[in-house]
Amino acid sequence: MTTNEALNHYTQQCQQRVEQALDQLLPSTNTLPTRLHEAMRYATLNGGKRIRPLLVYAAGQALDIAQERLDAPACAVELIHAYSLVHDDLPAMDDDDLRRNQPTCHRAYDEATAILVGDALQSLAFKSLCCDECMQADAQIRLSMVEILARASGSRGMAGGQAIDLQAVGRDLNLAELENLHIHKTGALIRAAVRMSTLINPAADKALTTGLDHYAKCIGLAFQIQDDILDVEGDTHTLGKTKGKDFAQEKPTYPSLLGLTGAKEKAGQLLQEALQSLDRFNTEADPLRWIAQYITERKH
Ligand code: IPE
Ligand code: IPE
Ligand code: MG
Ligand code: MG
Ligand code: MG
Repeated sequence: MTTNEALNHYTQQCQQRVEQALDQLLPSTNTLPTRLHEAMRYATLNGGKRIRPLLVYAAGQALDIAQERLDAPACAVELIHAYSLVHDDLPAMDDDDLRRNQPTCHRAYDEATAILVGDALQSLAFKSLCCDECMQADAQIRLSMVEILARASGSRGMAGGQAIDLQAVGRDLNLAELENLHIHKTGALIRAAVRMSTLINPAADKALTTGLDHYAKCIGLAFQIQDDILDVEGDTHTLGKTKGKDFAQEKPTYPSLLGLTGAKEKAGQLLQEALQSLDRFNTEADPLRWIAQYITERKH
């Protein structure tokens, strides 16, 4: 098997797993309020890449944790991510019409419903960490997971990053400010995905978990740099979202500050740093290595 085939196989298996788990977790459209439940499913079960769940499973594999114990954190981080996208697309934020090649949630339904979809997906994420039985984790571990995800989603994590993003429109940020923005709006959740996995194996060697955390920090930033690059270089159909929005909306991005070549160099450096952080692992961390590579090479 080539590296690409191995990655495809691993990705598909994890994607199917998390799709099924999300489908089971999301409220049925046969129950009230049906329109809200429909919209929650619309915004979640619509073909995202599922990178964050993939990271939960891959970090779990590196620490020898059974996949069924990881379904709840995988779903939880994806639910927070789906909520963040629904709100990010609202007219008050990025005002986007297209997401994952379909009308954005507020376009398919309405703005009030989209706001509530975000609210309800967020609550469901935390419920899954509290209640999932397959996780086989004690109350202390669940509490730590809730804390990690809450911090990563809140005003000192993703929501805070989104606030910085909105304030930065039309302004020139320096490199440190831009890095701070990206680390919060996107990096925090990616780091939380890996951290939640490490919590399930409290006996794991500290040097290994520190390496995993640094890996996640590097690829979290690289992920948003590549997102910025694709806004310039990608095409709308492949991306599933409208190309060129950052430039049109005067968002500070890595290509706008460093140029495309500089942005790609930075992503490449982060990839190398991420791979070095996995030095203490053998083949059990290969999926993490493939994901890091994919993040900086992806076309959507
Ligand atoms: C898009 O995230 C928003 C960012 C944080 C850059 P993804 O590129 O992971 O979006 P999906 O989930 O695959 O649609
Ligand atoms: C979004 O960043 C980050 C979050 C949703 C938290 P972007 O605004 O760049 O994401 P896209 O490009 O719309 O997917
Ligand atoms: Mg945005
Ligand atoms: Mg956006
Ligand atoms: Mg973007």
